[in-house]
Parts: sequence; structure tokens; C-alpha cells
Amino acid sequence: MWHDGRLCYGGDYNPEQWPAEVWAEDVALMRRARVTLVTVGVFAWSRLEPAPGQYCFDWLDQVLDLLHDGGIRVALATPTASPPPWFSLAHPGALPVTVDGVRLHHGSRDTYCAAAPAYRSAARRVTAALADRYARHPAVALWRVHNEYGTTCHCEHTARAFRRWLAGRYGDLDTLNDAWVTSFWSQHYSDWAQISTPRATQYLGNPGHLLDFRRFWSDTLLAAYAEQRDLLRAVAPQTPVTTNYVLGDWVPVDHARWAREVDLVAVDHYPSAVDGGAEEQTALVGDLARGWARHAAADPTWLLMESAPQQIHTTGRAHTKEPGRMLRHSLAHVARGSHGAMFFQWRASAGGAERFHSALVPHAGPDSRVFREAVELGAVLERLTEVRGRVEASVALAVDASSAWALRHPGLPSTRVDHHEELAAAHRALWHAGYGCDTVAPGEALDGYRLLVLPALYLTDDATAEWIRAYVHRGGHLLATYLSGTADAHARIRLGGYPGALRDVLGVRVEEFHPLADGDEVRLADGGTGRIWAETVHPTGAETVTTYAGGVLDGSPAITRHRHGTGTAWYVSTRPDDTTYRRLLDSAARAADIAPVCPDAPAGVEAVRRLHPGGSWLFLLNHTDRARRVPARGRDLLTDTEVDEAVTLPPGGVAVLRERLPSATGDETTT
Ligand code: GLA
Repeated sequence: MWHDGRLCYGGDYNPEQWPAEVWAEDVALMRRARVTLVTVGVFAWSRLEPAPGQYCFDWLDQVLDLLHDGGIRVALATPTASPPPWFSLAHPGALPVTVDGVRLHHGSRDTYCAAAPAYRSAARRVTAALADRYARHPAVALWRVHNEYGTTCHCEHTARAFRRWLAGRYGDLDTLNDAWVTSFWSQHYSDWAQISTPRATQYLGNPGHLLDFRRFWSDTLLAAYAEQRDLLRAVAPQTPVTTNYVLGDWVPVDHARWAREVDLVAVDHYPSAVDGGAEEQTALVGDLARGWARHAAADPTWLLMESAPQQIHTTGRAHTKEPGRMLRHSLAHVARGSHGAMFFQWRASAGGAERFHSALVPHAGPDSRVFREAVELGAVLERLTEVRGRVEASVALAVDASSAWALRHPGLPSTRVDHHEELAAAHRALWHAGYGCDTVAPGEALDGYRLLVLPALYLTDDATAEWIRAYVHRGGHLLATYLSGTADAHARIRLGGYPGALRDVLGVRVEEFHPLADGDEVRLADGGTGRIWAETVHPTGAETVTTYAGGVLDGSPAITRHRHGTGTAWYVSTRPDDTTYRRLLDSAARAADIAPVCPDAPAGVEAVRRLHPGGSWLFLLNHTDRARRVPARGRDLLTDTEVDEAVTLPPGGVAVLRERLPSATGDETTT
């Protein structure tokens, strides 16, 4: 067991930035806040190995002993995300090269090429030394490899590795030329040596080339992770290994695929929006993480490894979180299956690049609102130890890294279409309507889901098309949005009309796209509006749910519904505005016989239910600035009081109810 039953609570701890006197104070404060787990050593390479092959572990010995004596467990990190200056100077060829061919220099972090043999061997060496030293240290509960794999490189090491990867994937150049459609613009390759990484070039790059580079690089970073993991496992087989996922549209990692290689899915989450958006994003990330965790283990527990205690970072400004918001965000993650809430960081640094990043112990010290809220959060998490089980969800949302990457290629009819934004829009609509949902990868088992949503699942290979078809055929409800089914596994367009692979199941044939300009809307006959995209849709069996109103598409279908086998398939050819989307998904969910998690919850109150054979827990999070009354029954674990009819949540307040379940005799029993 990687945890000791308690929820994980704590964060990144950087004792290497502080004198030893502060360490003792840190442990005392951690105990006050009921911290259970801290990550140590993330960027400590130059302290651990000040010169090549010379290790300095005394300070870390002391820190781990202190933490252990204080009853605090450690996620021990390998420091390989930040090679020391001596490494970069000794191995300039291991420094990364940008898409424009510029070689970067040390002076920040993450400045290495993950395909460079010198980097890989230095990373293995320091990992092995750390593993040897601490494999049996009683404080070490978890290994955290590296930090947020996400760098990219275009150097010669990378190009060579890319060619090897391509040769493994395609076998011969004819197959590669065909997959990449290199007949276009005279790009035919007659020798493997002619292929480089997709560097900056004169005009639009080749979609197959760009896509395979992303896939290759995800595999390369994964191999860098896996070799460290294997070293750690070899000496400490009892200690699980993970790495913290970084999220963002620039990240070249297929998280679903990586999930099979970690013992525990761990994600970092930093919302980028302030008003309501932070809560919507938090819910989506929790559902994504749980979806990835299903690939990692039968028990889809995951861990929020990093989040910001006090700030929401938006472009150009750090917004200070309002009192209570840190607690609400943390519980939103726990509700969705995170085994706790971890932060970046424990103590705010006095200097360095992130000197103003928030921390549980801020610059002001423990006599601060943030630290008082940290103490409160520790106490709250202690009360939730009993919560377990799956998250109630009958809707599945498909997520696919390749579709996301391919929709960012140049040369698409619109630069505004984005798989993740389509996913977020669908999730937001479901979230506001109160439905629980899981994210799934194409091909995953769909038992138990009554509605499957495909948000611009652009790349649909034959197996995925069959997976969708079979689901609808046997009675599932499907809602596919525009561009789903359009391309094959190599990003080649499926001919004969869009949406390519899904024409039969959706009962439509799309003849033309009408991408919309920024700020433009199309009107829909049901009173709603559409953005970003519109299409000329010809039903070939589907019925029209609503049409476009006005403009060149006046009267032609915008949203359709089709019976296929014993199921129903909706097609949405535009991006409905939020209200219309919410109404649409509400209709699709009700038609699929799905009820909201807490049908009587007022607007602005998020409800998430955890279900286990031994119990049921309802999380209620009031994201509004008004008190909200929610009909519910059970024992509120936070106040330790019985709720008979309804709970009143103060503005921004939360409740976690151990629900009463109907017993066999019809009476209610508290679980
Ligand atoms: C990431 C990193 C941390 C820190 C935070 C700041 O999550 O892992 O080291 O840089 O971002 O937001």
C-alpha cells in the first residue's frame, strides 16, 4: 500500500533552500497542519551531486530522519528535471535545440535533451545513487521520478532516435511515404537519413510527420521515465513509482498511454481562469486524472500532486484565492478520487525564479491567513479518511492525445478548433447540468455508461470507429461533435463526405465546412447559437433536431439524431453556446435515462458522489457567494452532525455527507 490509510496532504518541500534550523520549524509546522506527505528533492541535483560522481547525502539523511520522526512520509523525487551547470558545460551536446535550431543554455530548469545519451546516463546514475541510499529509509512512501515531463528537442540525437522509431513503426519507407502522403509537395523520402525532426520550415509542415514526431517524443520521454522507474523498482520493489503529469496544450505526452507505466497517476493542476472557470477546470482535471488512473490500476485512485495554495495564475497576473477556495478546490479533487491534496509548495522561497509562487507557509510566515487555512484543510482531510469507492458517472467523454495534436496542425480550415476545448465545453455543460462523467480513451470498456460524448474526435482509426459503432448498436447513446471521424490514424482525410468513419452510425453526410470568424455566431432555429464552426449536413437516415436559422445555411440541419441498432446517435455540427449546449446534453442524458447526481441541488452547487459496496458519500461544494440549501440526508463528516432533510451551505461552503442508504426493509441505514 503506497499510503497509510490517511489522505495525502502536503506538498513540494525544498529543504535545500533553507538552513537546518528551518527544517525543524518546518516539521513542527507540518505537524500543526497535519501534513502527511511531502515531496523532497525535486530540483536538488546540484546539492546531491555537486561534482560528477561525488554525492552529498548528509543533508538529505537529516531531513528524511527529521520528517520520519515527525510522522511525515516522503515522496522522494529524482532530481533529473534540472541538471546542474557542471553537467551542461561538460556535455553541451545534451542541451536541447529548439524548432528553429537554437541550442538553449543552462540557467533555468528543464534544459536537457531527453534523447541525449549523456543526459540519460547522468540521470540514471544519480537515480541509482539515490535509490541505493534510500531504498530502505522508513520515511520513503513513494518515488516521484523527475518533474513534469514535457520538454521537446530537435537536436541530432533526437533526429536519430526519431528515425529509429519510424523504422520500427513503418518497417519500410514506402509505407511511411504512403502514411504521410509525401506525394504532396515533393516530400518523398528515398533514404531514412533524409528524415529530420519537424524543424522550422518555409511553409506548412506535413501533418503525418508532425503527428508522428509527437507520438515518438511521448514514447521517448516515457522511456526516460521507465528506465529510472526500473532502477528504483530493482532496489525498492515495495515502493511505488510515479511521475507528476503536467497538463497543458503544449505537453507532448500521451497521458493515457503513460498511465500503464506508473504505479499511481499523479497530476499537477493549476487552473488558468478565475471566475467559475477555475472550478470548471478543477472538475475536468479530476475526471481526466481518474480516467487515466483506470489504465494504471484496477482501483482508479490518483493523486493531486501539485496545486497552488493561494493563487490562480492567469496570463500576466496572479489572482489571490478568496478565503475557503483552496479548501473547496482540494475537496473537489478528493471527491473525484484523488487520495488527498498536495501543493506546490510547502514554504515560499526567498529567491529564485518562482520567489512569488504561493505556498502553505507564505513569505509572511505561519501567522497568516494561508497557513491558518492550511491547518484547517489538514483537519478537514483527516475527517474524510473513510471516503472511498468509485465516482458516480454514467456519461463517458472520449479523450485522445493524437486527435488533440492533429487538430493543432497548420492548414486546418480553422485555427479555433481544439480537441481539449471541445472536451472542456462538453464537460462544462455536463458539470453545470449536474451529471457525473468519466473520461475514457478510445477502445476502453464502456459498460455502465449510457451516454458517450465524442468532442471533435478528429482522428478515428478503424478500431475506434468499430468501438463507437458497436456501442451504439447495442443500445448506447452517442453524441459526436463536428470533425469527429474525419481523419484516419495518420491524419489522412477519410473521403466520401465527413464525418468519415462515422457517417453510417450518425446517419449524416457532411458536404462542406463553414468555419466562423472570431466573434461570429450562427443562429439555431431552437433559439440557441453556434460558434467556431458550422456545416452543410445532409441527413442520410438521421432526423433533424434543430436547423440553422438565417445565413447561407438557413433551414439546413445543425443538430441531428439517428437510430442505429438499438441505440441513438446525435450529431452536433457547430459549437453551441454554453446554455444551448447544457440544454442539449441535458436532453441527451435524459433520453439515455441518466439523472443528475443531486437533482435538487441549486445552481452553483457542485455535487459528486462516491460509491463503495460499504457506503455512499455525497460531496456538496457551494461555489456561489450566497448560502445554499441542498435537500440531502446523512451525516456531515465535516461538522459531525446529522442532516435530516437539507443541509445549508454557507457562501463558498462545503459538506461531505455519509449518506443513508435504503435498507432491505425499506428503512434507511447510515452507511
Ligand atoms: C509546476 C512545477 C513546479 C512549479 C509550479 C509552479 O507544477 O512542477 O515545480 O514550477 O509548476 O506553478
